[in-house]
Amino acid sequence: MNPYENLHSKRLRPRLLKAEQKTRLARFLDLAGDYLRDGYIYPRKAYTFRDDSLEPPLEAAPDHAVLPSEADSLEGLETEIQNCQGCPLHTSRIQTVPGQGASRPLVLVIGEGPGADEDASGRPFVGKAGQLLDRMLAAVDLSRERNCFITNVVKCRPPNNRDPLPEEIAACAPFLDRQLALLKPGMILCVGRVAMQSLLHTDEGIGRLRGQLTAYQGFSLLGTYHPSALLRDASLKRAAWEDLKILRDHLAALDEREP
Ligand code: URA
Repeated sequence: MNPYENLHSKRLRPRLLKAEQKTRLARFLDLAGDYLRDGYIYPRKAYTFRDDSLEPPLEAAPDHAVLPSEADSLEGLETEIQNCQGCPLHTSRIQTVPGQGASRPLVLVIGEGPGADEDASGRPFVGKAGQLLDRMLAAVDLSRERNCFITNVVKCRPPNNRDPLPEEIAACAPFLDRQLALLKPGMILCVGRVAMQSLLHTDEGIGRLRGQLTAYQGFSLLGTYHPSALLRDASLKRAAWEDLKILRDHLAALDEREP
């Protein structure tokens, strides 16, 4: 299914689930799973989703949106990103920052957008926040060299490190979708409010969104604080560590399920 195909038709346009619909669906799937297994209903903690997925605006499919295809490759995508002029950020960038890491990652880490160090080097998360991110990942046996791929919702630096604008995020979104389709990570870790809000189409704060596993395009997604926030406010580190333990436990569960 091509989710962009009917984006301009109000009647045929696919709808994202509201929180209440997600909750009902999760409960139904639990019930159906129990019933199909042995006819018993097992007591379990009920899921409650709090995040409504906000519908993207009708004009959200940018003209240059390119969908994942069989012929897509990480190298080809990187070249397209390097040549992209899909939004005004291309005029002020030094370099694009497509992403860096393992080609079959356990975790796809998604940040907000390149800062000055990343703009200069062409690599994501290389400044102070990046060094902290590397330490956070190492604490749960992850690294960009071995088993993570790190990227951002926008691949060019927003001037003065301002938040990327919704239209810049929308213009870059097909690149992220294609990275996800190519990398097929075990799960996604969003660091910070901007990444989390962009993917989930919500304006809920990161304090509410972090620490809960949710689904995104068929992948498990977890959000936590941005390492820059942890550098500004050390009291957030305890919660971030709780999130990393959820990440670690989820990866361990995936590992057990592998044949
Ligand atoms: N902050 C981000 O969100 N991404 C980077 O690549 C660097 C800093």
